[in-house]
Amino acid sequence: MDKAETALLALRMRDWVSQAGAHIRHHIHDPLHVQTKSSRKDLVTNLDKQTERDLIAAIRTEYPQAQIMGEEGSGDHVTDLKGLVFFVDPIDGTMNFVKQKYNFAIMIGAYIDGAPHVGVILNVMRQELYWGGPQLGVFKNETPIKAVSPLSLEDGLFGINSGMLAYDRYHSHQLFKTSAGMRILGSAGIEYIQLLEGRQVAYLSHLAPWDVAAGRVMAETLGMSVSRLDGHPLDMLSSGDVLIATAPTVADIRAIALDQPR
Ligand code: IPD
Ligand code: CA
Ligand code: CA
Repeated sequence: MDKAETALLALRMRDWVSQAGAHIRHHIHDPLHVQTKSSRKDLVTNLDKQTERDLIAAIRTEYPQAQIMGEEGSGDHVTDLKGLVFFVDPIDGTMNFVKQKYNFAIMIGAYIDGAPHVGVILNVMRQELYWGGPQLGVFKNETPIKAVSPLSLEDGLFGINSGMLAYDRYHSHQLFKTSAGMRILGSAGIEYIQLLEGRQVAYLSHLAPWDVAAGRVMAETLGMSVSRLDGHPLDMLSSGDVLIATAPTVADIRAIALDQPR
């Protein structure tokens, strides 16, 4: 895809998530139909499902050949990454959406033959739209974002999945003690935004492809590392533990989490 086509794709993706965000804000105080999925902490609502259907219909109108992986099941059963593939998370942070009406995101990632191409993350209630990719750079609304200055783990705030911290996975209690502090935000998209803005230096979580896709495009464009904790590349067809961080922080975290010599 050349730069003009990529810019048009990004414009469309921004438009789709902006419209979806406006719809959610308009209905934010409507009664919700809330269901559980894998556990009582894994929720889906009628607005998650409706938003996914709307986003997928918009994608199919403009890119009928593309494959679409959607969290709530209205997309395709994607088994390879050939061609243009969209990853859709209609509401990221559904628990926050239900309990706080705040701190949730809409995310779409577009990949070509498995390579990150364009990502968009909308902080719905703050109406802050992060978007970009390797051909375009990264922007918050219309303002370019520059690469963040790398900090050591000691000097930075660390975002982590609550389960990992509770069960001390990957020596996360020691990671907590070594870092300037830990933050648990309840939305991968909102965590990614903290990294893009340089407010946190790392995020460690167990994520599905739709959780990781959009933010990965922008984090990598800004020079951050997005990989499995041991450094293996992500497989965008399966869930797994993901570490997103600036280079010096990756080394600090691996030394503690995997007992690696520095
Ligand atoms: C969840 C959130 C959460 C992360 C979970 C995700 P959802 O997404 O991003 O922060 O810890 O792994 O599943 O289910 O609210 O879209
Ligand atoms: Ca979701
Ligand atoms: Ca999610």
